Amino acid sequence: MNIQEFQKLFFNLYGNPQKTPRLFFAPGRVNLIGEHTDYNGGFVLPCALQYGTYLLIRKRPDNLVRFATTNFDYKIEYDISKGYVKQQGQWINYPLGIFDQFDKLKIGLSGFDMLFSGDIPNSAGLSSSASIEMVTAFALASMLNVTSLEMTDLVNLSKRSENEFIGLDCGIMDMFAVGMGSADHAIFLNCLTLEFKRIPFILNGYKLIIANTNKKRGLADSKYNERVQECKEAIDAIRPHIPVNHLGEIGFMQFFKIQELIEDERVRRRARHVISENQRVLNAVSCLHKNDLLQFGALMNASHESLRDNYEVTGIELDTLVEEAWKINGVIGSRMTGAGFGGCTVSIVRDNVVEKFIHQAGDNYRQKTGLTASFYIAEVSDGTREIITESV
Ligand code: GLA
Repeated sequence: MNIQEFQKLFFNLYGNPQKTPRLFFAPGRVNLIGEHTDYNGGFVLPCALQYGTYLLIRKRPDNLVRFATTNFDYKIEYDISKGYVKQQGQWINYPLGIFDQFDKLKIGLSGFDMLFSGDIPNSAGLSSSASIEMVTAFALASMLNVTSLEMTDLVNLSKRSENEFIGLDCGIMDMFAVGMGSADHAIFLNCLTLEFKRIPFILNGYKLIIANTNKKRGLADSKYNERVQECKEAIDAIRPHIPVNHLGEIGFMQFFKIQELIEDERVRRRARHVISENQRVLNAVSCLHKNDLLQFGALMNASHESLRDNYEVTGIELDTLVEEAWKINGVIGSRMTGAGFGGCTVSIVRDNVVEKFIHQAGDNYRQKTGLTASFYIAEVSDGTREIITESV
């Protein structure tokens, strides 16, 4: 759908074509390496995608917020003077949670007409929820002229909304990448201090390919919170002996000296993943500085193995897709990306084997799992922004 058609839908829904809405966009993200490290105060290396969520928004003179999306048949009117109450299992909770956060900051809200449209593959683990949250947060701050909130404040606000309103104990990676992404750059983020650097990520002769397992991720949220809990158990076992509050503060070599402090073998493996993954991110960043893509790919492969064996968040679908990718000459790295339990893999594939990769890995995956994977060529793009149009 182009912008004109999108605007037409807005006016069909909300009328009054003389009053122009503004258009905002927030991307999805893919994480290159550094998985399940963010809520442990560790390092991550995500980048923003060309796919994302568009939002047309216009102020109303009353307290009604009218939400709609072009993605499925859904329209709702919400009276904000009644407060913000989570709706059962509904998409609206993502934007509503952001209104709730603005309200908590005592920012005077008004009514709006809002029409969303997303092109991020559904339930793929490419942060469609963070994208909806960030586009809403950025649009509200812009529409209400709240100049005191910078992009990083909106990132933090979106994370609070996800933790408090949605109820997922997620870390900050998704919102950060969605907000702060930059074309042709990966974001090297320290999730403890929020210091970050944009690292050039240019794949001469290679493509970054995202492959969706198309497996329904039913248990993802509960398993995710379970892993967060296990990491807390690891820290509880270590803290009486060493003054640390996050697994991310523990060095890779140090861990091998102290790992026996964690008695529970399963919990020890969870910590081993987080701490080794943290080191892999540091190594991956120096690979990018040295332009050593082959070694970068090897680190991606090692990341997958650790997520499979130590963290146990992969499953047959992700493992099959990654193993099929590893078999192909010219695929220099492949791993699951995001929370796991389904969702997507990310691979670095030489230009001249992209077609082969899609067919061979796709066919073998279908044969082994009965599911059909979808493939996307990722373009590393800019973060959340307003799109200025000539005529709306
Ligand atoms: C999900 C969460 C992120 C992060 C990843 C795993 O995407 O939203 O905060 O924890 O899983 O790395």
